[in-house]
Amino acid sequence: MHPENKDPLEPQNGEVRLREVIHSDLEIFFEQQLDPESNRMAAFTAREPGDQGAFTAHWIRIQGNQAILKKTILFNGRVAGYLVAFDLLGEFSVGYWLGKAYWGKGIATRGLALFLAGIPTRPLYARAAKDNAGSLRVLAKCGFKIAGEDRGFAYARGGETEELILRLEK
Ligand SMILES: CC(C)(COP(=O)(O)OP(=O)(O)OC[C@H]1O[C@@H](n2cnc3c(N)ncnc32)[C@H](O)[C@@H]1OP(=O)(O)O)[C@@H](O)C(=O)NCCC(=O)NCCS
Repeated sequence: MHPENKDPLEPQNGEVRLREVIHSDLEIFFEQQLDPESNRMAAFTAREPGDQGAFTAHWIRIQGNQAILKKTILFNGRVAGYLVAFDLLGEFSVGYWLGKAYWGKGIATRGLALFLAGIPTRPLYARAAKDNAGSLRVLAKCGFKIAGEDRGFAYARGGETEELILRLEK
């Protein structure tokens, strides 16, 4: 195939990089987190994903908080999503969200592996809804092991939802 005809979203043509979050990413993150399927998967989401003012205010607080680590995931230079790490109930925990167009290409796994390499804190934690198979697989591929269970109110499900707590030791 002629190089100019390469589909930039094809995984074999892809380069995953992390960089600092910049203000213009927030509009893209907002669009990416509007997707209903993504919200159902993630379960523990914003109360109102369609409220752009609340979303942007939330991210401006994150940007101003040095205790929260955050990176934009680039796939071939395009904003594919983000990664965060923050204190959650006393446990330093990771989270991530990718736009649907970027799913199924190994981007979350590669992005999380790069992110983890830059974070010295161990153990590290993550939480995922028990039925979020994609997120649980990403975490398992990066070395996280199931460490417990919890349940809590999930806005995207409109009710109590079971979640797994995962821990990365090394
Ligand atoms: C979960 C999410 C991050 C996965 O991103 P991704 O880039 O598609 O993941 P990867 O391509 O790295 O996939 C890693 C593994 O998970 C599997 N996987 C991905 N999505 C899956 C799904 N919906 N169901 C089952 N397995 C899935 C892949 O097949 C792959 O497994 P394999 O290597 O054994 O084949 C992405 O779907 C997303 O952002 N969802 C919405 C937000 C969310 O749920 N965030 C996490 C909250 S805890």
